[in-house]
Amino acid sequence: MGTAGGSYAEYAVAWEHTTFRIPEWLPFEAAATIPLAAFTAAVGLFLELGLPAPWERPPASSSTKIPLLINGASSATGLFAVKLAQLSSSSIGPIICTAGRSASSVTDLGGDDITVLDYRSSSMQEDIQRALQASTAAPLRHVLDTANSPRSAGYLSAALAAGSGGGACAFTQKWDPAFDAAGVFGRGTRLARIWVGTVHDDTTGVGKDFGFVWAAFFARLLRQRRLEPHPYQLVPRGLHGVEGALRTLMERKEGNAKFVFR
Ligand SMILES: NC(=O)c1ccc[n+]([C@@H]2O[C@H](COP(=O)([O-])OP(=O)(O)OC[C@H]3O[C@@H](n4cnc5c(N)ncnc54)[C@H](OP(=O)(O)O)[C@@H]3O)[C@@H](O)[C@H]2O)c1
Repeated sequence: MGTAGGSYAEYAVAWEHTTFRIPEWLPFEAAATIPLAAFTAAVGLFLELGLPAPWERPPASSSTKIPLLINGASSATGLFAVKLAQLSSSSIGPIICTAGRSASSVTDLGGDDITVLDYRSSSMQEDIQRALQASTAAPLRHVLDTANSPRSAGYLSAALAAGSGGGACAFTQKWDPAFDAAGVFGRGTRLARIWVGTVHDDTTGVGKDFGFVWAAFFARLLRQRRLEPHPYQLVPRGLHGVEGALRTLMERKEGNAKFVFR
């Protein structure tokens, strides 16, 4: 990442610690939807928010699970975050999700622990409170935001403030002070920027090992068909199709499919 020609090259060489084998059942085109979004989700949930990984046992002393709010759950990153959080279902739940026109992508995942709210509602703050109160007594301390809008900063910070006045919110975009123009996030809230490049190289030294472990785990999940790719639409003519696809994306009225160029 971050190198000249990177994503637009015909062939690319990737690090061994961030690559994984594609099983027979999974076409290359479908597999293309996985690494960026799934690694981003893993970094957000398990590195930045510090949530328990799927292979960790919940502490014997704790009978309540950790509630999680995922804003923009129908995006590729959001949907992988829901899928990965569901793998930690002995520790994480309920998973309160926000989605819009593609809400069915989230509800189709199934599971008792998922509630999907419409982010276009004018009463998001109340909707989130109601959903939390209906499903847990534990305070909300963990938020993953893939939408990164000033409006969502308002209702996400309110949700954290109502829970504990602290906790953490992990964003997929560079923190823009405009998101928090009113200073809505309290001082007690930790704001973390998710950066997928963490798994390629990380100055703290843990990113490559984290990437290696998750790459191996993704291979296992895919081999066992416990992880599905994101919905996608094939665009013909390879990179020559990019311009038209970008126009379609700008005018798109529904759907959350990724465009895959071939
Ligand atoms: N920092 C990093 O390393 C990193 C890595 C990957 C992605 N990102 C960033 O993360 C964001 C998500 O990327 P992605 O590829 O996962 O997105 P994506 O798949 O293109 O997301 C599209 C979906 O976002 C949903 N959405 C749009 N506006 C929303 C809003 N205001 N509130 C909630 N959901 C909304 C829509 O859902 P509905 O169809 O349901 O309306 C839409 O289908 C982007 O900003 C991207 O640049 C950052």
